[in-house]
Amino acid sequence: MQKKRVGVLISGRGSNMRALVEASRAADYPAEIVCVASNRPNAGGLDYARQQNIPASCIDHKDFGTREAFDTALNAELQKYNLDLVCCAGFMRIMTPTLINPWAGRMLNIHPSLLPLYKGLHTHERAIADGAKIHGASVHYVTAELDDGEVVAQTAVPVLQDDTPESLAARVLDIEHPLYVKALALVASGQFQAKLS
Ligand code: GRF
Repeated sequence: MQKKRVGVLISGRGSNMRALVEASRAADYPAEIVCVASNRPNAGGLDYARQQNIPASCIDHKDFGTREAFDTALNAELQKYNLDLVCCAGFMRIMTPTLINPWAGRMLNIHPSLLPLYKGLHTHERAIADGAKIHGASVHYVTAELDDGEVVAQTAVPVLQDDTPESLAARVLDIEHPLYVKALALVASGQFQAKLS
């Protein structure tokens, strides 16, 4: 089996990236993580990736005057690695077509809600405010519309009566890791194919 070459984009602690790296060590996992890039220099996930001998770079968005200029630089970085797929994992930037188009049908994101519910930020807070009884996470293809691309896989968790946004976020994060591992395996193995409308 030829493993698919995957780059991961992060902005912070990178626990989802770490879950993907750990899963990809299995000989029968259909993907390998070959690079990590962050838009924030102090992203904790960069240290972890470097400890694992995975090339990890920072392209600091503050060094660029426009979103397009930043996206051009980040795309150039990704293009160095002959990637099959890109996984956004806690990558907290709105992306322009400059970055999205070259990876159309090959870029995934994990979002902490049961899409199409709660696109955007503060998903846990909004689910609690609505009195939702279930919440969860989705792995989806990235398109020009925020959190709008085809969903590959989802997992739900209960919302408990005494939940705070923090306690609910922690319960969701626990299921994000196996969810992303499963979704990437489905895509990398060809078992799930993007419809690409
Ligand atoms: C996750 O909850 C992810 O769904 C959201 O940001 C968080 C990132 O966590 N987009 P981590 O950096 O993977 O630990």
